[in-house]
Amino acid sequence: MNVLVVGGHGQIALRLLRLLADRGDAARGLVRNAGHAGDLEAAGATPVVLDLEGDADLAEAVRGADAVVFAAGAGPGSGPERKRTVDLGGATKLIDACAAAGVSRYLMISAMGVDRPGHSGPMAPYYEAKREADAAVRDAGLDYTIVRPGRLTDDPGTGRVEVGSPLDHGGEVSRDDVAATLLAALDEPRSAGVQLDLIGGATPIDAALASLIAR
Ligand SMILES: NC(=O)c1ccc[n+]([C@@H]2O[C@H](COP(=O)([O-])OP(=O)(O)OC[C@H]3O[C@@H](n4cnc5c(N)ncnc54)[C@H](OP(=O)(O)O)[C@@H]3O)[C@@H](O)[C@H]2O)c1
Repeated sequence: MNVLVVGGHGQIALRLLRLLADRGDAARGLVRNAGHAGDLEAAGATPVVLDLEGDADLAEAVRGADAVVFAAGAGPGSGPERKRTVDLGGATKLIDACAAAGVSRYLMISAMGVDRPGHSGPMAPYYEAKREADAAVRDAGLDYTIVRPGRLTDDPGTGRVEVGSPLDHGGEVSRDDVAATLLAALDEPRSAGVQLDLIGGATPIDAALASLIAR
């Protein structure tokens, strides 16, 4: 499988690229900083240097991919403007690039709770950008899977999770298990059209994903 992970130097992205490369898939990661290329190569991935917020043509990078994964984010240190240009604008730019390049499989890393009304305070622009990005992905006619993790941790993965569409309670999940869930979704075409909340739990990832597909 040829997979382009956008935001390829992100913490989840690097884990996913390593999983893909370790089993022989063509793992490509889009990074904006050429200085990050070596970290991708060390993970077995091929870096593609392109700034999502710049003018470069993303469709060329997308062309030839079997799937794309949006793993970029402006991050907690950024202001509301970059929530619009990265978390929303980057995601919609990737949608447009997929249309231009004829790629239909799009996995999105979102966040639990973005559709809950009444967000206020400094996180509100983030939730708003992610909510709009997810809606754009759902409305684009793509074979999407939207993965909405709870609070991310760097704990070692367990391979076991709890999922729901949506879940009625929050929780946390390791970045390892988010990456493993994205890999499982890439391997399961019937996860197209699924949007899931994801936290750590007791169910093996494949079975958790299957429980949503069966519904
Ligand atoms: N933190 C939480 O508890 C939580 C919970 C649920 C969901 N999430 C979501 O999960 C996502 C992934 O998490 P993570 O920890 O893997 O994120 P992360 O480590 O912050 O990775 C985000 C990546 O996006 C890249 N990026 C930013 N602007 C870019 C641009 N203009 N062009 C290309 N790449 C760009 C960053 O590159 P640089 O290194 O160059 O800045 C960074 O490598 C987050 O973005 C967030 O939306 C987070």
